Amino acid sequence: MNEFVVLFVVKKKTVLRAAITTRVGDPSVIEVKEVPLPQLKPGWVRIKVRAFGINRSEMYTRQGHSPGVQFPRIQGIECVGIIDASTNDLYPKGQQVAAIMGEMGRSYDGGYAEYCLVPEHIVFPFTSALPWSTLGAIPEMFQTVSGSLHQALDIQPGETLLIRGGTSSIGLLSAQLAKSEGLQVISTTRNPNKRAFLLDQGADEVIIDEGKIEEELRSLYPEGVNKVLELVGTTTLRDSLKCAENQGVVCMTGILGDSWTLDNFSPMYDIPSTVRLTSYAGDSTNLSAEHLQAFIDEVEKGNVHPQIDSVLELDQVSLAHERMEKSLAKGKMVVVTSPV
Ligand SMILES: NC(=O)c1ccc[n+]([C@@H]2O[C@H](COP(=O)([O-])OP(=O)(O)OC[C@H]3O[C@@H](n4cnc5c(N)ncnc54)[C@H](OP(=O)(O)O)[C@@H]3O)[C@@H](O)[C@H]2O)c1
Repeated sequence: MNEFVVLFVVKKKTVLRAAITTRVGDPSVIEVKEVPLPQLKPGWVRIKVRAFGINRSEMYTRQGHSPGVQFPRIQGIECVGIIDASTNDLYPKGQQVAAIMGEMGRSYDGGYAEYCLVPEHIVFPFTSALPWSTLGAIPEMFQTVSGSLHQALDIQPGETLLIRGGTSSIGLLSAQLAKSEGLQVISTTRNPNKRAFLLDQGADEVIIDEGKIEEELRSLYPEGVNKVLELVGTTTLRDSLKCAENQGVVCMTGILGDSWTLDNFSPMYDIPSTVRLTSYAGDSTNLSAEHLQAFIDEVEKGNVHPQIDSVLELDQVSLAHERMEKSLAKGKMVVVTSPV
C-alpha cells in the first residue's frame, strides 16, 4: 500500500491590498494596489482591518488641503478590525479593536487597507457581535458627536439644540443622541427634499438653510436656542451666533461650507454679548475604551441607530470619495475589506 504524505504549506502573508491616494487630485487618484505587509515594531500593533468609515477630512486631504501629508499615502483616519500582531498583552491576537486619529492615514499609512500598523495609544479594544459594516461607522463619528455635545457644548436635558448641517452623518447622530438625552432639536438642510428625512431621523423642527436662518429660528424660539452645533462652518457662523440665546454656546465642529477662515471677524460685533463661542477638534485622546464600548453596547441593544448610507468594498473607496464630494450620502459610508 502506498503511503501519501500530504504537505500543507502555509504561506505567510507578505502583501496586502490597499486603496492608495497616489497624489493630490480628484477621486480617481485613489487606486487599489498590493503593498508589502507592514512589519511590527515596539509600541505599535498590526490590525487586520475589517471595516472603516469614510471621513470628510480624508476628502480634504486628498484634495490637497493638508499641507503636511505626503503622497502616495494610504489614507484612513480610523478603522475597526482584529489584532493581527502585537508585543503587548493588552492587545492579544484576535482582539476586536478600533483605531482612530493620532495622524493615522496622514503622517503614516492608515485604515484604507486590509492591514495597518498603528501606535498602541490610538487603539481601543472592544467586544461586540455587531456586523463589521456597523462597527466601521462608529469610532470617529461617535468620538466627534460625543465630544462636541458633551465636552464642548455640555448639553443638558430640556435644552434646545440647533444643528447646522443636520443631514451630515455627524449631524444625524448628534440629533439622535441629543433627543435621547431629552433635548429639543432643530436641524438644518439646504435641500427641502430632505425635510421629511430629518423629521424621520428625530429632529423636532427643520429649517431650510439658505445661509441666514436667524429670523426663522427666532420666530420659533424668540429668545434663541441654548446650544448650536455648527457643522457648516465659517460661512454660517456669524448667523449661528445670532441664533444663540444669552449665555448660549456655539460650537464650531465642521466646515461643510469649505471655507476655513472668517474675513474681517470682529469679536465685539460678531459675537453677541454673553454668547459663548467654542470649537471641537477631537483626537483619540477624547475617546476612552469604556465610552466606546458603552456606545457600541447601546447600538447592539437597538437603542441607537447610526445612519449608514452605504456599505462599500475596498475597490470602491474612490466612488465613496466622489459620492461625498457630490453630497449624495445620507449618513455614514462604510467600507468593508471582505464582502459582508
Ligand atoms: N471636529 C472634529 O473632530 C470633526 C470630526 C469629524 C468630522 N468633522 C466635520 O464635521 C462635518 C460633518 O462631517 P460628516 O462626515 O458628517 O459630513 P457628511 O456626512 O459628508 O455631510 C454631508 C452633508 O453636508 C452638507 N453640505 C455639503 N456641502 C455643504 C455646503 N457647501 N454648505 C452647507 N452644507 C453642505 C449636505 O447637506 P444638505 O445638502 O442637506 O444641506 C450633505 O448632505 C465636516 O465638516 C467634517 O469635517 C469634524
